[in-house]
Amino acid sequence: MGRAKITIIGAGNVGATTAHWCAAAELGDIVLLDIPQAGDMPKGKALDLMEASPVMGFDCNILGTSDYGDTTDSDVVVITAGIPRKPGMSRDDLLATNAKIMTAVTEQIKETSPNAVIIVVSNPLDAMVQRCLQVSGFPSNRVLGQAGVLDTARYRTFLAMELGVSVEDVSALLMGGHGDTMVPLPSCTSVGGIPVTQLLDSARLDEIVDRARKGGAEIVGLLKTGSAYYAPAAACTQMVEAIVKDKKRVLPCAAYCDSEYGVGGYYVGVPIVLGAGGVERIIKLELTEQETADFQNSVDAVKELVAVMAGLA
Ligand code: NAI
Ligand code: 2OP
Repeated sequence: MGRAKITIIGAGNVGATTAHWCAAAELGDIVLLDIPQAGDMPKGKALDLMEASPVMGFDCNILGTSDYGDTTDSDVVVITAGIPRKPGMSRDDLLATNAKIMTAVTEQIKETSPNAVIIVVSNPLDAMVQRCLQVSGFPSNRVLGQAGVLDTARYRTFLAMELGVSVEDVSALLMGGHGDTMVPLPSCTSVGGIPVTQLLDSARLDEIVDRARKGGAEIVGLLKTGSAYYAPAAACTQMVEAIVKDKKRVLPCAAYCDSEYGVGGYYVGVPIVLGAGGVERIIKLELTEQETADFQNSVDAVKELVAVMAGLA
């Protein structure tokens, strides 16, 4: 079997860092695309990364471009194109600008890589992935969004820091939209197999859950010039790996839910099985009464955003 072809749209912070992690893990050949106004920047980043390969010992081709012809027949397309948050902005403030960008990018991918699995990253995530599905006309299993892997990674990191244990031993799940209403699930959180509720009291756990919910804003507040990109790019890379290696990973991703959880045709973070076919299965689990209410609240926030987007170009 030949190498996978991975296209990353948007050669900014998240895009270039995703290219970096994907190359280091030898997940396939990589095309890094940005707009013509970005000049030779994608070419420069791609060449620079390629020149790291003899030292770091990875073997793949990395091409920077602004020509969609170079992306033809990609297996996976990661869309990071769009503007990021600045301090004081919410993800939703990005809606109008990024919806236009998402439409333009998706129209190109639809023509050049009709069989790709698309991973949307641009914010506001749940609305952007919905736009991508509408414009592409792809089956919904081949259009999904990255949010839950990142949000869960933040939650796991904070728990490991609190408990003084390895992040590797913290397993967790988080559902809902990629916003302040996201729903970490203490009932699905364990440390070396031990339910987290046996290790932390509920007040402290609530504080950690709250920090995870606001994890994106915490980084924006520190960076001041943009938003997080190392952890987001690592999350994208894990999803790309699951697809190109057909790993059947169980990961929280923004997937199109219709009858599932009674969502009724929207993208929202849920646990899925991720493999070569994209979203191969949405896993349905029993939520507590409180978790159900929180999830519904988060779905309502996503619906509101999609309704606003429907009124935009
Ligand atoms: P950035 O500003 O560093 O990079 C964005 C890149 O997109 C720029 O290079 C820009 O020229 C390019 N771009 C703009 N319009 C384009 C178009 N039509 N076609 C191709 N490229 C285009 O921003 P960063 O930090 O990489 O963030 C990118 C997006 O990802 C933002 O919307 C941000 O909010 C979102 N994000 C989402 C996360 C998630 O968990 N879903 C996590 C982190 C960021
Ligand atoms: C984050 O959560 C900005 O959505 C991005 O860091």
